[in-house]
Amino acid sequence: MDLSTTIAGVHFPTCLMNASGARCVTEHDLHKLGNSHAGAIVTKSMTPHERSGNPEPRYVSFDGGSINSMGLPNLGYQAYAQLIPDLRQYKKPVVASIAGLKPADFLEAVKAINVAKPDLMEINLSCPNIPGKPQIGYDFQASEELLMKIRDLAVPPIGVKLPPYFDPVHHEAMAEVLTRVGVSFISVINSVGNGLVLDAETETVVIKPKGGFGGLGGRIIKPVALANVRAFWKLVGEKIQIIGTGGVETGQDIFEHLLCGASAVQIGTVLVDEDVKVFERLKHELAGWLRKKGYDSVAECRGKLKAL
Ligand code: SIN
Repeated sequence: MDLSTTIAGVHFPTCLMNASGARCVTEHDLHKLGNSHAGAIVTKSMTPHERSGNPEPRYVSFDGGSINSMGLPNLGYQAYAQLIPDLRQYKKPVVASIAGLKPADFLEAVKAINVAKPDLMEINLSCPNIPGKPQIGYDFQASEELLMKIRDLAVPPIGVKLPPYFDPVHHEAMAEVLTRVGVSFISVINSVGNGLVLDAETETVVIKPKGGFGGLGGRIIKPVALANVRAFWKLVGEKIQIIGTGGVETGQDIFEHLLCGASAVQIGTVLVDEDVKVFERLKHELAGWLRKKGYDSVAECRGKLKAL
């Protein structure tokens, strides 16, 4: 069974990788991903300076998903620029995730990370967890201006990590931006921002930052993730490859993302829950699904979802 995929001309030995944020902050985390069955190593979204992130508790799993307001804890781009060359020993793509609190932060990081030669850069326009900083991906003009500048600076192919959109007009507007910029791939979706989970017994919120508001992940967001993959596949699938992110817990979930048009998937909540051994389980489960449905490869079933 061929579980490999190719994104922006880069070969991935399997189509499964971590979502930026899940177990990918430290040097130890990144080498663990290297030694695992993950098909790539995606770094935590990096900012100019090391950040400790938001106050704890800031990540809670619950039945059906997770809520987080991590606040971009990361080592700072200089540390990742030093780590990335060593990660190449694992013979799988290294994807540098770039974030920032203002546009200049992204440009600074892109310039520095070029030197480390990651295979791809994923530009994170969708972190919902920085108080006072709205998700850039919901501002189409600001997204376009920033991405045009990044495109002109970045050496590796760039992709964009997008927030979920809930209206076809917004899918269309972002698809036009992405086409004008000429990005190579998109990762959809980041967490569903600013959800609220509470504990009725104690009558409290479950995470501390932002009064308990945080990004939702896991099984509960799968329909939103699939809808975004499908919508972008229909709009730009011929030109821009899609990494499906959101609600992947089983091989069936991966198969559903592929049917909607994803070329690969990222794993978040269940990676936090099960650690890197999850990749081996998911590989076997995906192979089982493809075999059962008569497909020989990931590429064969991509986008094959039928309408009624
Ligand atoms: C965080 O660090 O708060 C999560 C990052 C993200 O959602 O992009």
